[in-house]
Amino acid sequence: MNTTELTAVAGISPERLPALLRGMPKAELHIHIEGSLEPELIFALAARNGVSLAFDNVESLRAAYAFSDLQSFLDIYYAGASVLLHEADFHDMAMDYFRRASADHVVHAELFFDPQTHTDRGVPIEVVINGLARACEEAEAEFGITSLLILCFLRHLSEETAFDTLAQALPSIERHRDRLVGVGLDSSEQGHPPEKFARVFARCRELGLRLVAHAGEEGPPAYIWSALDVLKVERIDHGVRCVEDPSLVARLAAERIPLTVCPLSNVKLRVFDTLAQHNLARLLELGLCITVNSDDPAYFGGYVNQNYIETFEALPAMTAADAYTLARNSFEASFANSTQKARWIELLDSYFLNA
Ligand code: ADE
Ligand code: ZN
Repeated sequence: MNTTELTAVAGISPERLPALLRGMPKAELHIHIEGSLEPELIFALAARNGVSLAFDNVESLRAAYAFSDLQSFLDIYYAGASVLLHEADFHDMAMDYFRRASADHVVHAELFFDPQTHTDRGVPIEVVINGLARACEEAEAEFGITSLLILCFLRHLSEETAFDTLAQALPSIERHRDRLVGVGLDSSEQGHPPEKFARVFARCRELGLRLVAHAGEEGPPAYIWSALDVLKVERIDHGVRCVEDPSLVARLAAERIPLTVCPLSNVKLRVFDTLAQHNLARLLELGLCITVNSDDPAYFGGYVNQNYIETFEALPAMTAADAYTLARNSFEASFANSTQKARWIELLDSYFLNA
């Protein structure tokens, strides 16, 4: 879109924003697939697999979704994942996500998964990956969504166990080379700096895998620096605390390093008290490549469209031109090839030019 066209888009009235945001094509780049497990599916899988839960019913489980910080969420999130045992469970969970994402006009999704949460319970890693990969294929046929998988190492565990996980995953990485394209780093951030995983990320880089890491969600800007300089990641997940360090902001802007921001997650986990206090608009103003994502939608009050709509509602300075920028960033920051990206951007341009 040229500048004149973008100025016209900026003039779209605020009342039209929710519908515009809902219908615009977008990519989602920060979604933990285990975080899409809705309470109803947790109970259905618990019954199917004979797993007992610490909650009596869906309502009492949902009522426990009041978090004081990242750790208080992770405790309940790992407990929820305990119902996942068989390939069909991983497949069904991912299909539920794709169905919802498709309704939100997501045309491409890059799914994080946490293999150690499952292998530590005796579930073989290929069961996890085969179930997810099968859902990715089906979602493309059924909903036209393309997708990639990103294996995340749990940072509260040791680098040695991350190496073990990588070794277990290698045959699946070979088998699903075009699907499982990268590795990430998630779980408890404070006290677990990126450099703890320097060697395993270096190995993944040698293997030709794409690299991302959570940094600057609860952790300090120094963790974003080391994710970039030590791990050599291409995208930062969250990264909202970068604003505390102007030289870091300058670096992120100059190198156009994408930040996959998750506004509803940040409020639920008390990174910001309210959405009105979220720094997303400021990050865009600073010229950063920002994307909007859901993180763990079953736990944080909504899927990607809910994130867009509530954020624009809470930050009235944001216009339809920002919506265009965010969606465009989501395609540019994806790990898809340049032909695919150009096709999506054409689709996006025509959506906005006809809005
Ligand atoms: N795992 C799932 N969601 C996460 C988040 N928001 N931060 C770190 N690890 C996670
Ligand atoms: Zn996350």
